[in-house]
Amino acid sequence: MAEDLNITSGTKQQQYEALIPQIKGVLKGEADLIANLANVSAALKEQFGWFWVGFYLVKKDELVLGPFQGPVACTRIKKGRGVCGCSWSKAQTLIVADVEKFPGHIACSNLSKSEIVVPIIKSGEVIGVLDVDSEDLDQFDETDQKYLEQIVQLINWQGQ
Ligand code: SME
Repeated sequence: MAEDLNITSGTKQQQYEALIPQIKGVLKGEADLIANLANVSAALKEQFGWFWVGFYLVKKDELVLGPFQGPVACTRIKKGRGVCGCSWSKAQTLIVADVEKFPGHIACSNLSKSEIVVPIIKSGEVIGVLDVDSEDLDQFDETDQKYLEQIVQLINWQGQ
């Protein structure tokens, strides 16, 4: 695997299109989930410079913090709580343009202004979420949804 990520410029779509083959390369041949989630978080953070990128994994009745890049964050989130818990209970991607307007938003950091949460669905069950936060308002749209949903499906979720 290449050791350095090739950071690209261009439209958001162009950036994702250049990043996805590199993520595939990083994941190739590695079965360890923690290693893969750590590298996917790092690749997304490095390419896009977002404030926080990371995974929460379903453990019993909670989401528990997994590998991430960014400031320290809340460790446990109940189903239906915050943007992450709502994405879990609805099994849907949620795009929040202004986190202050999302009822029940969990502010791990008050620097976070907008957010996208993508559920990870395996055999019809949500097994975790990918959470991305930006320090700027209204940073996420359907392009992020499309590509981030693709990226979580590139990860080998066997055993989860
Ligand atoms: N804001 C999230 C909590 C996780 S942190 O942003 C990393 C939420 O409302 O679920």
